[in-house]
Amino acid sequence: MKIILTCPIGLEDVVKKDLIEWGIKEEDIYLFPFGFRGRVFAEVKDYQEACNLAYFLHSINRVFIYLGVFEVKQSLEGLEQIKEVAFNLEDIENFLDISKTFAVRCSRRGKHEYRSPDVEKYAGAGIVERYISKYGKRPRVNLENPDILLRFDLHNENLVVGLDLVGYESLNKRGYRIYKHPAPIKGPIAYGMLRLIDWKFEESLVDPMCGGGTIPIEAALYGLNYPAGFLRKENFLFWKIFENVKLKDFQFRNVSLSLFGFDKFKKHIDGAKLNAEKAKVLNFINFDVVDVSDLSKKIFKVDVVLTNPPYGLRIANPLETEKVYNNFFKESKKILSEKGRIGFITSRDDLVHRYISKYGFNLVHKRSIYHGKLNVYFYILTL
Ligand SMILES: C[S@@+](CC[C@H](N)C(=O)[O-])C[C@H]1O[C@@H](n2cnc3c(N)ncnc32)[C@H](O)[C@@H]1O
Repeated sequence: MKIILTCPIGLEDVVKKDLIEWGIKEEDIYLFPFGFRGRVFAEVKDYQEACNLAYFLHSINRVFIYLGVFEVKQSLEGLEQIKEVAFNLEDIENFLDISKTFAVRCSRRGKHEYRSPDVEKYAGAGIVERYISKYGKRPRVNLENPDILLRFDLHNENLVVGLDLVGYESLNKRGYRIYKHPAPIKGPIAYGMLRLIDWKFEESLVDPMCGGGTIPIEAALYGLNYPAGFLRKENFLFWKIFENVKLKDFQFRNVSLSLFGFDKFKKHIDGAKLNAEKAKVLNFINFDVVDVSDLSKKIFKVDVVLTNPPYGLRIANPLETEKVYNNFFKESKKILSEKGRIGFITSRDDLVHRYISKYGFNLVHKRSIYHGKLNVYFYILTL
């Protein structure tokens, strides 16, 4: 069975790593299928394996069963072609019986003379026409809470059709965010950062500006071997598509974690604790109210500093942001163990380079990642 996994743009190789660790052969994995960034194509055994991947992997946003790729025009003519593709979708009756409701979603990149809602409308109409002509009945559309969610995604002329196994909310909604920090990082990005910096479970890790706690929480979930979807287990659409999905049992990893999450605001630390409690990992993280300028007073040695500092886009005083970055680099340098690494994600390339040279770090990795629509950079520094 062919599937497409979606992820934050820039972290496709992390998904590949996850798939290989899961047991999928390297030659069955392709990055950027049909030109789509933030996507990975894989050949898996069967739908059971596809559903398990959706439930377990930490790096992904969605999983689709691949139903085909079709060439369509970017001019208005393309809409009729999309309707025709939907009308001729051969496998569709295997999933969508007439008692079920459906919806179509589209994400689109390219210079089309039409928009995503047009694609959804025409594809939906094609499916309805197919059922009327074959069975004399129309399947019901339910845009809010469909049983079957079809993807009609476009990259220039490539229309990729898929069956969504996840549902309305992307897997970056893990289900632990009780406290809503104003600028949280998404779970799959935090996890991607952990994998890129090659954090080992026995290594100590601190996020000195942890906000709602995403990075240490994701570290604990990964370290303990929780499936990423365990808090939203009941919400997966695959339960509505297939009758006998069997999710694998998971074993807790027996590790002793050394995780720290600090922030200068008590309300964020209180919130991070609520989130960690919901995620069932509160006992594995030491949260505390600490200003980054006092980091070395709070922690003596650490293997990994991993954080998402403020970008300063919403802060009125730019000098304040510079002070935070300066203190972050100065203090991190003091506490880093010999083999330690500092990783962080930010849009402030200007500030970063200034302090890398000021404090004499080695820049060992830099890459662009899309945090939603914002292009940010992830850096790894060593002493
Ligand atoms: C972009 S947010 C981090 C969001 C977090 N990764 C999450 O997912 O919730 C940056 C955080 O840095 C914190 N911060 C700003 N200045 C700080 C300082 N001087 N010391 C410690 N934390 C600071 C802010 O309170 C904010 O929570």
